[in-house]
Amino acid sequence: MDDFSLARVVHILSVIMWIGGVAFVTTTAMPAIRAASPPAERLTVFHGFERRFVRQARFWVLLAGASGFWMVESADLWSRFSDGGFWWMHAMVAVWLVFVAMLFAIEPLFLHRRMIASTRPARDYDRMERMHRVVLTFAVAAVIGAAAGSRGLL
Ligand code: HEM
Repeated sequence: MDDFSLARVVHILSVIMWIGGVAFVTTTAMPAIRAASPPAERLTVFHGFERRFVRQARFWVLLAGASGFWMVESADLWSRFSDGGFWWMHAMVAVWLVFVAMLFAIEPLFLHRRMIASTRPARDYDRMERMHRVVLTFAVAAVIGAAAGSRGLL
């Protein structure tokens, strides 16, 4: 197997574990917490889930980025980034950058502390649920764009 194909295997696995996790949290865990817990407690219950998922997400995000850039370098695809027709390449990198910023900077340095000490946990939970839906929508668009675009469908 050539190194591009190997990187593609790692890339697809990483994206499934990571975006699949985000989809589960957004469409299943968060609505379930909303239904089962009173507004003031939702944020605390969510943190129990989040702590476990964040560690895995960091791992898969790093692997998705490494395998993605490996493919770009190995097949010399850098010129795609200056071609608007390859918007799905930009979409992948944009989604990746949002998660890198969230998981490695914003969440550990600032957001986690702010959420633990939240004075309006019900409102913060609503906001967080909305943000998850927005980010999941962009991630799904990137997956569809990349899967279709890499086979010349777009
Ligand atoms: C640093 C970030 C990333 C880079 C550099 C990158 C790069 C790449 C490259 C070079 C390909 C192969 C394209 C081709 O065969 O023509 C690819 C495929 C793909 N990527 Fe990414 N990617 C990144 C992040 C992501 C993210 C965040 C997602 C999902 C939200 C994603 C989903 C996919 C999918 C679904 C494929 C198609 C696999 C296939 O069917 O061949 N990638 N990526």
